Amino acid sequence: PLPTLLSLAFGYLLGSIPFGLILTRMAGLGDVRRIGSGNIGATNVLRTGNKKLAAATLVLDALKGTTAAAIAARWGLDAGIAAGFAAFIGHLFPVWLGFRGGKGVATYLGILLGLAPIMLAVFAAVWLAVAYLSRYSSLSALVATAATPVVLWLTGNEKVALLFAVLTLITWWKHRANIARLMKGTESKIGDKG
Ligand code: G3P
Repeated sequence: PLPTLLSLAFGYLLGSIPFGLILTRMAGLGDVRRIGSGNIGATNVLRTGNKKLAAATLVLDALKGTTAAAIAARWGLDAGIAAGFAAFIGHLFPVWLGFRGGKGVATYLGILLGLAPIMLAVFAAVWLAVAYLSRYSSLSALVATAATPVVLWLTGNEKVALLFAVLTLITWWKHRANIARLMKGTESKIGDKG
């Protein structure tokens, strides 16, 4: 149906805007893909040493998901879910960057804000607790994204829980190099240049 197709197209286009790359280029910091992990997300933008730019990347990458999901949700929950999913795919696989995009964590939490805003508190609490204890951005994201679909399911948001279960699996797959580094003890901590 038309709302679903439009939601998918709108979500993908919005999600595929690589804010981390655009902002670091505009700030004259060069190509963020050449530093640290090579990722275009806020964690890697922080490795340029510019905290404000990292925060802006986090917020803008999140808002892509929020905007896509919240606007499409006016056609109903299914359209919101389709747009959120498409924004996520757009962020991870942007056609403009040869389908090599980010790892999805900021966009994940933005979609959560659009579809189940209260759950943002759960995500943030888990992320911050793990980050406080471990100083690993990737580990915090892995634990927070594991908890999110479970809590959504337990609170009766079955459809949204299924969406986030899928997003979590894709996020974990995108973090496979991080997981390998975490197991080897070579993952860089938040704010480290590595
Ligand atoms: O949100 C991305 C984070 O989990 C890992 O980023 O740059 O350390 O691979 P990075």
